[in-house]
Amino acid sequence: MKAYHLNEHAGAGGLVLADVSKPEPATGEVRIRVEAASLNYRDLLILDRVGQGALNGRVPLSDGAGVVDAIGAGVLQWQVGDRVAASFFRDWVSGPFRTSYVPSALGGNTMDGVLAEYVVLPATALVSVPAHLSSIEAATLPCAGVTAWHGLITRGGMGKGDTVLVQGTGGVALFGLQFAAALGARAIVISSSDEKLARAKAMGASILINYRDTPDWDVPLMKATDGEGATHVLELGGPGTYDRSLRSVASGGKIVQIGVLTGFGPKPDLARLQWENADIIGVTVGSVEHFAAMNRFLTDQAIHPIVDRIYGFDEAPEAFTYLRTGAHFGKIVVKL
Ligand SMILES: NC(=O)c1ccc[n+]([C@@H]2O[C@H](COP(=O)([O-])OP(=O)(O)OC[C@H]3O[C@@H](n4cnc5c(N)ncnc54)[C@H](OP(=O)(O)O)[C@@H]3O)[C@@H](O)[C@H]2O)c1
Repeated sequence: MKAYHLNEHAGAGGLVLADVSKPEPATGEVRIRVEAASLNYRDLLILDRVGQGALNGRVPLSDGAGVVDAIGAGVLQWQVGDRVAASFFRDWVSGPFRTSYVPSALGGNTMDGVLAEYVVLPATALVSVPAHLSSIEAATLPCAGVTAWHGLITRGGMGKGDTVLVQGTGGVALFGLQFAAALGARAIVISSSDEKLARAKAMGASILINYRDTPDWDVPLMKATDGEGATHVLELGGPGTYDRSLRSVASGGKIVQIGVLTGFGPKPDLARLQWENADIIGVTVGSVEHFAAMNRFLTDQAIHPIVDRIYGFDEAPEAFTYLRTGAHFGKIVVKL
């Protein structure tokens, strides 16, 4: 079978397509014929570190969906032909997060990912694909969808009457917008592009701010919310957005701390959090249990993820290049 490997000698693309043997499922494991895999901002961060030690030779990408192709002994919950998606942390099945789950993140420096024709995973690391979704759509869910779900709904309790600030129009952002729209929460979207803002409006966002034209976007945000601010802030930017996120959060509101789109750096003065009696919720994706709960919601609400562009398996390096441009609206998928 074929699989992509991260390779420091592969030039700017950082990837080589390799011939490898088809993995066999051991006891408790399942083999999946991967039909689609999706990219996340994290995959660029990983690609940029490929020369550093353990990443060399790893299969990239955490997010994939496909069909069960073979099952190992003792697997009772899956059958050949079932449509499944893999959870981001192979070992975080349910309950609270443990740091011991970190090495089980797929497509990182300790665990192969899913940009391969077949992958083998424990039966416990999988969820059923909602019947209304294609494999291409399902492949967008494991990191971006579950992160937005876990942060905004499981931990953040977002619901009708709330106001969420969504930063940008990438993967996590548009899941946040779709969940807000489905729950009857008001959505504020900030984006670098008026065209993307128009698309966000069509998806249900009601307050739209171009952060390139209006770098102090927290000012119009406060005005548009009559000085109330956002009950939920989907904090995706990091150092470049954090101060304004703090100025945008409503009294008693929640900053869902997720992203590093503007890099890694010192965090700002948190005093306003205290004066607004607001909370920070730190999120690292989510568990199999979170994934399954989100899938029930997607099914109930007939939500389809927003797929921007689909690349063929042989075009996977180009998908990474396109992700880096930031031109996408929603998710980028590789179809196998
Ligand atoms: N903690 C976790 O477990 C977790 C899980 C998933 C993702 N993340 C992080 O969350 C972030 C988003 O990930 P993703 O995969 O959804 O990214 P993505 O799809 O690549 O999103 C990129 C988009 O972010 C927007 N953006 C960039 N700079 C911005 C800024 N200064 N202010 C507002 N928006 C900005 C842009 O939208 P416009 O073009 O509309 O301007 C850009 O197109 C990343 O930092 C990622 O590492 C963390």
